[in-house]
Amino acid sequence: MAVISEEVDKAKKHLEAGEVIGIPTETVYGLAGNALDATVVAKIFEIKERPFFDPLIVHIASPEQIEQYAHHVPDAAIALAEKFWPGPLTLVLPKKEVIPDLVSAGLPTVALRVPNHPMTQDLLHDLTFPLAAPSANPFGYISPTTAQHVNDQLGDRIPFILDGGPCAVGVESTIVGFEEGVVTLYRFGGIPPEEIEKVAGPVSAHVKEKKIAAPGLFESHYAPQKPLKIGHIPTMLAGYKGEEIGVISFQTDYGVPNQVILSKTGNLYEAAKNVFAALRKFDNSSAVVLLSEEVPPHGLGLAINDRLRRASHRFR
Ligand code: TXA
Ligand code: MG
Repeated sequence: MAVISEEVDKAKKHLEAGEVIGIPTETVYGLAGNALDATVVAKIFEIKERPFFDPLIVHIASPEQIEQYAHHVPDAAIALAEKFWPGPLTLVLPKKEVIPDLVSAGLPTVALRVPNHPMTQDLLHDLTFPLAAPSANPFGYISPTTAQHVNDQLGDRIPFILDGGPCAVGVESTIVGFEEGVVTLYRFGGIPPEEIEKVAGPVSAHVKEKKIAAPGLFESHYAPQKPLKIGHIPTMLAGYKGEEIGVISFQTDYGVPNQVILSKTGNLYEAAKNVFAALRKFDNSSAVVLLSEEVPPHGLGLAINDRLRRASHRFR
């Protein structure tokens, strides 16, 4: 198993030695290594069992570093970085050569983000290189929101996990690109689309629909091993007799024994923070099936529903 520690210095030493480690961010834990070293990046893909055609996000210390790794940066990208960094927003920009092709899976672009977690901020400021980091879960499985989640699944493949506590946001970053001047949403995440539009102008609904299924965004993802069904919970419950069932609801108490209520007060930020841990809890329980419902489809609810749908996809 990996060493779980709060010592940023130790994390730094592992990374400088070319190792891949777990790091906390405000969204989910990352599986991090030197983004400028293709050998280290290859190791990340190997540990995660991730296909090489699915590019990685590069984590940088501050907005000023954009220019080191990207060029032709549109004004809208600068405005978004100024408003939301550090924070759960990833910007896809034309990449400079210093970024290995393996990071970007051969694309001419690189995904950049400044994470908002004090330990990882310290780490990035202390290092002389940025960190490539996908979410620290085996490819296709539920994303980790605690150091223990990382250890449970990847602890035998990495030496060290920097423990920054439970993730404050709980779903991955929102990914935004710029295509011929059009602000394009690639993935729903921690910054609601409404907030992006306030800063960068309208994100065309058509573009949104089309691009959300861009390369690397798989229909089945974030998935538990147990079947997950999404729908009207009382109706679905009526179809079972005596089996152990895990129920994930938004704010309603359905009066069943194995239930996680994502937010009793109906707060979408709280629900986002709890959704992956809820899936994981039931996946590790003796429940034979997981039932969930969609949350209100606005703000962070869009990211939560996206994750639930992908998690249930292979059971449709
Ligand atoms: O919140 C997050 O973004 C977390 C934390 C660790 O920062 N990271 C994360 O990484 O979610 P990952 O690898 O699980 O998801 C990254 C997504 C993938 O779907 C990938 O296809 C997309 O980013 N991506 C990366 N580079 C891209 C590019 N150049 N163009 C389009 N999509 C890109
Ligand atoms: Mg992921």
